[in-house]
Formats: sequence, C-alpha cells, structure tokens
Amino acid sequence: MASQIISSRLLLLALPVLACVFPCSCHARATDNNGARIRGMFVFGSSLVDNGNNNFLKNSIAKADFLPYGIDFPSGPSVTPPLRGRKIIHGVNYASGASGILDDTGSRAGNAISLNQQLRNFEEVTLPDLEAQMGFRRRELLPEFLFVVGTGGNDYSFNYFLRQSTANASLEVFTANLTKILSGRLQKLYRLGGRKFVLMALNPIGCSPMMSATTTCPALTSSSSILTGLSERLSETPVPRGFKDTTSSCCELMALNRGGNGVLCKKEGKACKDRNSHVFFDGLHPTEAVNIQIATKAYNSNLTSEVYPINVKQLSMF
Ligand SMILES: *[C@@H]1O[C@H](CO)[C@@H](O)[C@H](O)[C@H]1NC(C)=O
Ligand SMILES: *[C@@H]1O[C@H](CO)[C@@H](O)[C@H](O)[C@H]1NC(C)=O
Ligand SMILES: *[C@@H]1O[C@H](CO)[C@@H](O)[C@H](O)[C@H]1NC(C)=O
Repeated sequence: MASQIISSRLLLLALPVLACVFPCSCHARATDNNGARIRGMFVFGSSLVDNGNNNFLKNSIAKADFLPYGIDFPSGPSVTPPLRGRKIIHGVNYASGASGILDDTGSRAGNAISLNQQLRNFEEVTLPDLEAQMGFRRRELLPEFLFVVGTGGNDYSFNYFLRQSTANASLEVFTANLTKILSGRLQKLYRLGGRKFVLMALNPIGCSPMMSATTTCPALTSSSSILTGLSERLSETPVPRGFKDTTSSCCELMALNRGGNGVLCKKEGKACKDRNSHVFFDGLHPTEAVNIQIATKAYNSNLTSEVYPINVKQLSMF
C-alpha cells in the first residue's frame, strides 16, 4: 500500500513512512521522551499545520489571526518562528494555509506558499544555516529530525472541485497526478537527507461543514483519497468518540456575501461554549480537542487503522 505513496522502491525500503493525521503536539512529546532522539521537526503542508506563516502574506485571505481563532490560547493564535536563526535547530514550520500539492491550488485564496516553495525555503534558506550553526553536514543532521507533511485536502476542495470545464480529469486521474507529484516532493526531502517521515492522511473532506452542504460525506471520502492505501484505512476511522456535534462549525462563519467561503470564522464572531464537544471549529478545521486526540493516537496508537506502519513514538526511537 505504501508503494502507492512512494514510487521509488529504494525509498520505500529505506524509509519508515508513517501516516498520522495531526501530529501537532509531536514535537514536545518526541523530544522529551525517554529514548527518543529527535532534535526537532520540519513541517510542510496546508492550514491544518500552518501555525501563522500566512499572517505574513499580503494577499492571502487564508489567515486565522483574529478571534475567535486562538480563543483558548492565552496569547492568541500562535506565531511562527523564522526560517533562519537560532531557533531553527529545533525545526521550522513552513506550512501555508490554502496551499496544496499543486502549485496553483492556493491561488484562489489570494496567495499561499506552495509545497514546492516550502521545500525550496527549507533547502535554500534553512538547511545551509542549520549546517553552519550545528557544524555538521545535512546527512548527519537530518536523520534526527521528523519531517511532517500534511497536505492534499485543498487540492480537492479548492482546486479539483472548483474547476470548471477547463481541465476535466477524472478523480482517479487527478489523484494519480497528485500522488506522483507528492511522491516527487517526498523523494526530494529524502535526497536532502530526511529519513523520518510523518505523513498525515487526508481528513474526510466531504464531511466538513463546508463541503457537506454540496456533497455526500462518505462518497467523497472514499473516492478522493490521495494517499490511497493509507487514507482508505484512515478515512474508515470514525469521528473520534466523545463528540456531540460532528457536523456543524463551532464558530459563526463569515457570511458568504461578505467574502466568506464557508471555511473561515467571522472576525470577532461568536464561538460555541462547548468547544470540546465539537469536531469542527470552523467550516474545515477541527477543534483543539480533536487535534489532541489525533496527535495522541499518531504518537502512541498501536492500531494500523490509525497509524501505519509504525507510530511516531516508534519512529522517534529508530
Ligand atoms: C467537462 O465536464 C463537464 C461535465 O462534467 C462537461 O459539461 C464539459 O463539456 C467537459 N469539458 C470538456 C472540455 O471536456
Ligand atoms: C497534473 O499536475 C500538473 C502540475 O504539475 C498540472 O499542470 C496538470 O494540469 C495536472 N493534471 C491533472 C489531470 O490534474
Ligand atoms: C502500544 O504498545 C506499546 C508497547 O507494547 C505500549 O507501551 C503502549 O502503551 C501501547 N499504546 C497504547 C495506546 O496502548
């Protein structure tokens, strides 16, 4: 199954590939774990893992730098560290909301840093600085970092399904294309020296408040799996238990006639009180409570239906 993600046989054999869905708290856990030898992590992907990069993009509408985002964080939405400088020895987050595997996926949201550009930022800006600071070559350094890649959903939500008649590829052809491109990006990271990869499966796209208005949740889920084998396993995973509201957003969404697209919360709008019982915070993104469950499973679970072929804890101790 993993061979569908990584086409190179060599890569497949040499590289522990792991699917997990939202390893947002892996960093702290992986570093302080007894036996874990992880210096930090490099994160690539979309808004599911963007911790503030888009705040610096002029034309992007995919930002979460206003309340009620960050409502449960004392200092508001988190801010991202720079691509170079002392802090990079613990890793860098390059992710950009609205971006996708395809370069043009983010263009509908004004601006986004494509996966391609994220990798270039890693290679051209961070890596030389990291080598200089640590006094080691990349081949010695990078095996001690986790490479977390969480991308692909937007290529469906904001590219494929919004395309008009121009590029009429079937979902299968489109998915094959995405898989090939993502595979190439992962191989690039591997060639640069990365050895420990955490791949997040796609969330069930059709089940978000935004998409479920127009599509059937399970149908879209099973047909749009980009990490085919992995996603099929993971999308069968039911919504985490203990949630009362699995369909509507916790926050009040930005009105469609005011520039809203069914995703973002209204600025300074209301948020539900029982956030821990909601699956979705806005029209697309899960609540902190869901992320904690997913991160915990990614780190610790022994079920191959949740994380495959090994969990993040095992990956860290390699
Ligand atoms: C694309 O598909 C739509 C229906 O899904 C069809 O109406 C249209 O003619 C197709 N366009 C091309 C260029 O094949
Ligand atoms: C495949 O990806 C390329 C970008 O690398 C894009 O130009 C092309 O239109 C894509 N094909 C399909 C069927 O989506
Ligand atoms: C998974 O297995 C390991 C080793 O047997 C065990 O220490 C760990 O607690 C298990 N994880 C869960 C969530 O049960």
